[in-house]
Amino acid sequence: MMPQMPTLEEVIIEPPAEGVIVDPMTWFDTPGPFELEIGCGKGGFLLHRARSHREARLLGIEWANKYFRFAADRMARWQITNVRIMRTDAKTFVMRHLPPDCVSVLHLYHPDPWPKKRHHKRRLVQADFVEAVIRVLKPGGRWLIQSDHGEYFDQIRQVVAARPELAEGPWDELADHDATDWGGTNYEIKYAREGRPIYRAAYRKVDG
Ligand SMILES: C[S@@+](CC[C@H](N)C(=O)[O-])C[C@H]1O[C@@H](n2cnc3c(N)ncnc32)[C@H](O)[C@@H]1O
Repeated sequence: MMPQMPTLEEVIIEPPAEGVIVDPMTWFDTPGPFELEIGCGKGGFLLHRARSHREARLLGIEWANKYFRFAADRMARWQITNVRIMRTDAKTFVMRHLPPDCVSVLHLYHPDPWPKKRHHKRRLVQADFVEAVIRVLKPGGRWLIQSDHGEYFDQIRQVVAARPELAEGPWDELADHDATDWGGTNYEIKYAREGRPIYRAAYRKVDG
């Protein structure tokens, strides 16, 4: 039987109310490994990932209303059945609303670097967020990080390296990106064109 094509209303998931722990599989017709993209922008990566990994059940979180709308609309137009989009603050969502051991892959590509020193506290990846990521990843689950900002990337690596629950591994093996029609995320394409280096790190949650 052909899967039901999603309407825009079905693609969009409302952020949970205070105190609610979600069950992501209830958003999809059939279950599969749950993947989360934080800051999905216009949804280019999600579209690619959904089509190259049909078994995955993906949620894209985006704070900016314009991009959130664009991404959700894109999924409905392309009749993508395995992606849902939510407009919320990803940090709150991961820390307060996801159950433990539920995420197979966490995608974090070009998180806002907040380059000014006085704004560093606004950066997403800090010790408390890493703690939450460890909690929500399944044993063996993967966290893929990509950035164009060397200083923020170094800080991310330092804070993650402090946690023995996360083991760094080879990007190509852990990212498992299908390169056939993949040109990169919007920011990756933009910055690669400018000749900026792109930094990548891939981690796996250690079993047990
Ligand atoms: C630099 S852009 C990268 C977009 C996309 N990942 C890419 O590589 O092209 C960062 C995105 O993350 C979103 N964002 C930043 N902080 C967020 C948060 N706390 N929760 C949800 N989205 C967030 C921004 O609105 C923006 O669209």
